[in-house]
Amino acid sequence: MIWYNFFINNNAITSGIGDYKVVKLLTHVYNLIVLCQKIEKAVAVVTGSSTGIGFETSLALACKGIKTCVTMRDTQKSVHLETIAREENLPIKVFEMNVHNDNSVSNAIQKMVNEYGRIDILVNNAGYGLFGALEDFTILDFKKTI
Ligand SMILES: NC(=O)c1ccc[n+]([C@@H]2O[C@H](COP(=O)([O-])OP(=O)(O)OC[C@H]3O[C@@H](n4cnc5c(N)ncnc54)[C@H](OP(=O)(O)O)[C@@H]3O)[C@@H](O)[C@H]2O)c1
Repeated sequence: MIWYNFFINNNAITSGIGDYKVVKLLTHVYNLIVLCQKIEKAVAVVTGSSTGIGFETSLALACKGIKTCVTMRDTQKSVHLETIAREENLPIKVFEMNVHNDNSVSNAIQKMVNEYGRIDILVNNAGYGLFGALEDFTILDFKKTI
């Protein structure tokens, strides 16, 4: 089994301001696709794919023929993504994964490896932003954003 592990944290990449954010994000997705295409039969994992950037990145990768393991903590939210994947014949498979739960992560990774034998690219997208006064947050709040 070959393991390439590219760790791409889009929290660092999408933290621009205004329109720059969109440009940065598009650049990020473009670079990601170029990276995947350099690897023969690449398998990508995207966390937090139920909405937003994770949803769109998953589709962008799969549209380029990259096998994409789409992950979300509530797989009932996968209906829209799976409908598109079916209609467009995209190489997408949905896995349940809550990034705050180590067992959930291990189980999902094991299922992906069983299915594809390898993981080449990890898009570490799942998370959320905290907005408000610093003193109103706990350490746990911060940990949950990572
Ligand atoms: N949009 C921006 O301007 C911006 C700027 C800087 C950084 N970011 C970062 O980029 C990432 C995506 O942003 P977005 O705008 O696409 O946000 P979003 O639409 O709120 O998407 C966040 C995704 O993360 C998932 N998620 C949250 N906690 C999770 C957990 N414990 N396990 C698994 N999945 C989890 C959510 O799943 P559920 O549907 O289950 O909640 C959702 O699919 C986030 O990490 C965000 O902090 C975004």
